[in-house]
Amino acid sequence: MVECQKNLRSKEIWAIGGGKGGIGKSLIIGNAGITLARLNKKVLLVDADLGGANLHTTIGMGLPEVTLSDFLKRRTEKIQDVVIPTGIPNLSIISGARDILDAANPHHAQKERLLRQLNTIDADYILLDIGAGTSYNILDFFLFSNHGVLVVLPEPTAIENAYRFIKSAFYRRFRKIVRNRQLKELVDSAKDQKNTMGIRTPYDLIKHVKMVEPAAGELLELEMRKFKPKLIVNQARGKEDIQVGFAMRNACETFFGISLEYLGYLEYDDCIWRSVRSNRPLVLEYPGSGPVRSIESIVRNLLGGEQLVSGTNY
Ligand SMILES: Nc1ncnc2c1ncn2[C@@H]1O[C@H](COP(=O)(O)OP(=O)(O)OP(=O)(O)O)[C@@H](O)[C@H]1O
Ligand SMILES: [Mg+2]
Repeated sequence: MVECQKNLRSKEIWAIGGGKGGIGKSLIIGNAGITLARLNKKVLLVDADLGGANLHTTIGMGLPEVTLSDFLKRRTEKIQDVVIPTGIPNLSIISGARDILDAANPHHAQKERLLRQLNTIDADYILLDIGAGTSYNILDFFLFSNHGVLVVLPEPTAIENAYRFIKSAFYRRFRKIVRNRQLKELVDSAKDQKNTMGIRTPYDLIKHVKMVEPAAGELLELEMRKFKPKLIVNQARGKEDIQVGFAMRNACETFFGISLEYLGYLEYDDCIWRSVRSNRPLVLEYPGSGPVRSIESIVRNLLGGEQLVSGTNY
């Protein structure tokens, strides 16, 4: 996976996840995709939420006949065959699996084939909706991306799930990096919160490895500094909610030793669910609204501060 990332310089892959369901992941990625497309970037949305595909709905589309299932089940060999135009200039989509039950847990080989072939797609940006949870498939999609983004609601359950997601992704990445079998086993034991080594956080884990194998520990520490997940707070209803992002960023740094970048927040707003109900994408239905400006700001932060210029209206 990490090797794959080396081949991705020509395009950027963003993945949106979060430990919890129903928190706005698809809504944000669909609308971020349209925002990027309106900046004349060639964008592909990929619904990799294999258990509950509905990314197409957030951009006002029905489920196409051809979906990711056809690729995963080898009814087609090339990923390009399941790329569908959306009707929005510069934006195409690979819609999520239709036959949910079969496709929800693709084998390792199927997943590797998917990730490999995503590399061959001609796009400036590939945006992956990876769905809810912390299964290996979800974590691998997250780690495959150049920017792994977490959505969180300012509620204890969602926050708890987000921390769990960050820890799980960290351990997964760690396990992929280390070659040595003992260290792999160490990571596996560390995942047990009641482990006897007293390792409770990623920070403890690095400390422990440095103690038992200093050279490996140093290397890992360097490698792990590159792990920089990003955070969006959704459904913010006031200043306190907005602060949740900063508090989580600080807690991650202090307790996990992980840099979490706070990309911004999206306010709770009736126009969001209204746009979903009317089957019209938020950014097209309510241009200039607070939430749309917030999405533009989040996209700008992901682009590294690039100025957004209004694109065409359609
Ligand atoms: N900021 C918001 N303000 C108001 N409503 C919102 C907001 N964000 C999300 N919603 C509502 O929450 C619903 C669920 O959002 P969405 O489908 O994007 O969540 P999800 O995280 O992708 O869910 P799943 O895990 O099931 O895929 C939206 O259809 C919308 O009605
Ligand atoms: Mg979703």
